[in-house]
Amino acid sequence: ENTQQKQLIELHEQTVKLYHHILTNTKMGQPALDYLHQRGVSDDTIAIYQLGYAPSQRLLKPFFDERKTDFQLLRKSGLFSEDQEGNLRDRFVDRVMYPIRNGGGQTIAFSGRLLTANSDMPKYLNSPETEIFNKRKVLFNLDLARPNIRGKDPAILFEGFMDVITAYQAGIKSGIASMGTSLTEQQIYDIKRITHEVVISYDGDTPGQKAIKRAIDAFNQQQSHVEMKIISVPDGMDPDEFIRKKGADAFKQLITHAQAPIEFELSYLKKQFNLDSEVDQSHYIAEALKLISQVDSGISRDLYLNRLADEFSVDKKLLSQQLAPLTRKPT
Ligand code: GTP
Ligand code: MN
Ligand code: MN
Ligand code: MN
Ligand code: MN
Repeated sequence: ENTQQKQLIELHEQTVKLYHHILTNTKMGQPALDYLHQRGVSDDTIAIYQLGYAPSQRLLKPFFDERKTDFQLLRKSGLFSEDQEGNLRDRFVDRVMYPIRNGGGQTIAFSGRLLTANSDMPKYLNSPETEIFNKRKVLFNLDLARPNIRGKDPAILFEGFMDVITAYQAGIKSGIASMGTSLTEQQIYDIKRITHEVVISYDGDTPGQKAIKRAIDAFNQQQSHVEMKIISVPDGMDPDEFIRKKGADAFKQLITHAQAPIEFELSYLKKQFNLDSEVDQSHYIAEALKLISQVDSGISRDLYLNRLADEFSVDKKLLSQQLAPLTRKPT
């Protein structure tokens, strides 16, 4: 960590305090505070995550100008956008501010949410990549979740950081999230270093299901020896909505009944086919056998084979014969 990085982090810490103050102690911040309260975010949680508000009136630039903060440092911070003449203006305007911290708990970026989502502007606006922020390397909440993950709980991987925050508030404190991107090699590496058990809990909508598939593939590609479990949140809800509606215990029940990756992949695969058609049926069976062949335990393979045979009323011996050459030799 060089001097410039230290200065950029210090700039972020000051910004956190300013935005948090505006949210919690000013009239300007009241609509944003109401928004968070309406979402069920408690004052404790607002304090723990140091949530804030960037008002419509741009105040960050004057705030740092008054403190004679170096212009080049401000320029590199990502907290401002630059106009044609090279003037800096606050990047975040009228947004609820979520500080993004690195694994060591230092704030290195922000994500700002519109109070009311509309189609003109992105719902969430993130800091751009800077000397201290690379979104592909960040796992949101890792600093707070790490002691719990190391101790006892599996890491719970969420899609959005509101899921992480709501889970944390409900006492489920081992949640982490990527910054709206697919999981990267670096993130998987960081997860592997602290646990061998991951529960994937993405949104119950179609993009969420696709992202689960990508996450399973990413973990498998890195032969991570991480045991994955998959939660499917019902009715297109996301975990944040689910926990608020049904409570933490109901969510823990979902964890208890989480699927093995193969089960998720089989049902995901099934949705790609029209199983009324016999051509599709045999394609599905061929693809399903490929998935089953990847399962390490011979007993489990046999169970899935039974299920497949029953489901399509096909001869299990035939399936076995087709599976045999696909199956990895034990190492
Ligand atoms: P809420 O509407 O506040 O409940 O958001 P969410 O947490 O449910 O987010 P959503 O499922 O829409 O998206 C998951 C994650 O993708 C978010 O946490 C963000 O990191 C990211 N994301 C969502 N919308 C945007 C966007 O407009 N821009 C960017 N850069 N990222 C986004
Ligand atoms: Mn209120
Ligand atoms: Mn979503
Ligand atoms: Mn949501
Ligand atoms: Mn969501």
